Amino acid sequence: MAVRLLARTLRGLEDVAAREIAQRGLGRVTHSRHREVWFTADHADARLLDLRTIDDLFLLAAVIDGVGHTRANLVRFTEAARASDLGELLRQRDHLRAGSATTGVDVAASFLGKRNYNRFDIEDAIGAEAARATGLPYHSRRGGDAPPDGTLSFRVTVEGARAALALRVGERPLHRRSYKLASTPGTLHPPLAAAMALLADVRPTDSVLDPCCGTGTILIEAAELAPRARLIGMDHDPRALAAATANAAQMATVATWSCGDAGRLPVVTGQIDRVVSNPPWDRQVPARGALSNRPNRLYREIRRVLSADGRGVLLLHEVEQQVAAVKSAGLRVRHVHPLSLFGAHPSIVVLTS
Ligand SMILES: C[S@@+](CC[C@H](N)C(=O)[O-])C[C@H]1O[C@@H](n2cnc3c(N)ncnc32)[C@H](O)[C@@H]1O
Repeated sequence: MAVRLLARTLRGLEDVAAREIAQRGLGRVTHSRHREVWFTADHADARLLDLRTIDDLFLLAAVIDGVGHTRANLVRFTEAARASDLGELLRQRDHLRAGSATTGVDVAASFLGKRNYNRFDIEDAIGAEAARATGLPYHSRRGGDAPPDGTLSFRVTVEGARAALALRVGERPLHRRSYKLASTPGTLHPPLAAAMALLADVRPTDSVLDPCCGTGTILIEAAELAPRARLIGMDHDPRALAAATANAAQMATVATWSCGDAGRLPVVTGQIDRVVSNPPWDRQVPARGALSNRPNRLYREIRRVLSADGRGVLLLHEVEQQVAAVKSAGLRVRHVHPLSLFGAHPSIVVLTS
């Protein structure tokens, strides 16, 4: 039986997530909207839980059209919860994941624009009905308490007059990676790292370099998308390399990790197919070594080590200024993908040699 799904993404990654879903043959995208990709799969394929560029995955329970701004509309959420086929949703969810602990029901809601009700009003309107239908206790978020583990977790999103009610597939959000045991400041959100690896279009036997690899997130995610690629991680900080080594071991990722200065890369000219990195340009992580007073050396080094058909994917803040520096190093800028990332607005910049 066809399954209707809703993937949540970072703002700006909707198209990349849609591309991953299509490329991996995991479904047909019907449409995208703010931080969401809606799609249909022929059946509840467990590989859906391996989608890497999305933040989380939900089974679509109901679409509510004509949702207005007044409190009178709250009843529409309760009615939608009552009308949805919860039994079928739970069957599909059980099919997709191992284990089905159900300690209760919780609901998280978000909306765009002004309304005469708040997110907790929507959550309670649905939570009480879902608790009645399942016979499980409802854990309201109104008091600020996080729900316990093992709940049936519903998500409601409202954009304009259209609301979606959906049920989380996994036990926890998919963006939480079990491999990420070791962390350092500035470490990358894993679905964003995966999106950068996807945009790098890594071919099976490519060499992929992250010259400022930190805890290794980008290369670990790249390995999941291109398992045969030759992965090379470098960083100025030995503690970051220790973290990268520990994280990669969790996933059995095969990569070489070594100390190096991204302003003087110990790499032969023209030998690298893909460079994917988030350089230390933001306030969280200072540039060290040769980059500390000459940051543009990074772009010149990327230009030098990339092969003739090489490609780079960088996460850059203050993008106009950085793109000018990228171009003056002789690199070509192909695409700029603006993002919204926890209150910051960096861009993914795709460049070629
Ligand atoms: C924003 S962090 C990268 C985070 C990484 N993508 C992750 O997910 O953990 C930038 C990294 O650049 C490193 N760095 C700073 N100066 C460097 C240099 N000259 N050469 C190489 N790495 C450098 C820092 O040690 C830091 O680990």
